[in-house]
Amino acid sequence: MTARHPLSLEDAQARTGIQIRPITGALGARVTGIDLRQPLATEQRDVVQAAFDHHLLLTFPGQQPLSPEQHMRFSEVFGDHQDLPHIPLVEGYPKLQEVLAEATHVKGQVAGQNWHSDSSFLSAPPLGVAMRAVELPDFGGDTAFVNMCLAYESLSPALQQMLAGMKAVHSATRVFGKASQEREVRLNMRANTSMDEGERESAHPVVRTHPRTGRKGLFVNRVYTQRFEGWTAEESAPLLQYLYSLYDRPEFGCRIEWHPDMMLLWDNRFTQHRAIFDYQGKRRYLVRTTIQGERPA
Ligand code: SIN
Repeated sequence: MTARHPLSLEDAQARTGIQIRPITGALGARVTGIDLRQPLATEQRDVVQAAFDHHLLLTFPGQQPLSPEQHMRFSEVFGDHQDLPHIPLVEGYPKLQEVLAEATHVKGQVAGQNWHSDSSFLSAPPLGVAMRAVELPDFGGDTAFVNMCLAYESLSPALQQMLAGMKAVHSATRVFGKASQEREVRLNMRANTSMDEGERESAHPVVRTHPRTGRKGLFVNRVYTQRFEGWTAEESAPLLQYLYSLYDRPEFGCRIEWHPDMMLLWDNRFTQHRAIFDYQGKRRYLVRTTIQGERPA
């Protein structure tokens, strides 16, 4: 495992009253001693940003309900808003996106159950997501995360070197392209999502570098990656499957249990996530903002 964030817990506590406690040895930290209803002071921003850079996933338990404006202001600490072409919006708030499973929904209707990085088919996929819980089932509905830097660091130097020179082609064709098999999930998408949008392809480096920490991570995922650039889909599949198999290693990940009004901030470039649908018959409703990312490099 590599070094954790450079600010010691003691420094952070002394300077701002913010407490940062790692969730697992792989990724994630709980942040307390901060009220997200208030604008963050510069020093608070610095502490939270440093924790985010190094833990890649932050939970903020014990928050009071946030207004849409407070939620959007928190998100903008980390970057501009990014619209995604298919995620439904909260009525009246074009920057707030809905993650909703109705009590009547069955497995095929709940989005995000495979490991993925949101919208990697875009030329500049999201940097991150700030999501808060509004209505939760009385058990279940966790979200699982995996650290793409640890997955990369587990590879042999020879494979790391080979992948460093490669790109992968991403598109949303399996989800909302012309040949999509996931019609039921489509019912949960923004009504005007275009199938042409689903056919759009972007080629991204297979290994990308965190612009603030310099750490490298794998950037291929089961939902959107189609093939390696210059390789056929058949040639690509065995190596992709090997890389995907790393994501199921428990020592590379963590599982987040939601609580009412908890905020979760995740890095969408260096983690992947999946929604765990184990609460059929219950309603689950969260709202999220998406933070604009850079072109992967
Ligand atoms: C998502 O995949 O963006 C949603 C994750 C969740 O519902 O927990």
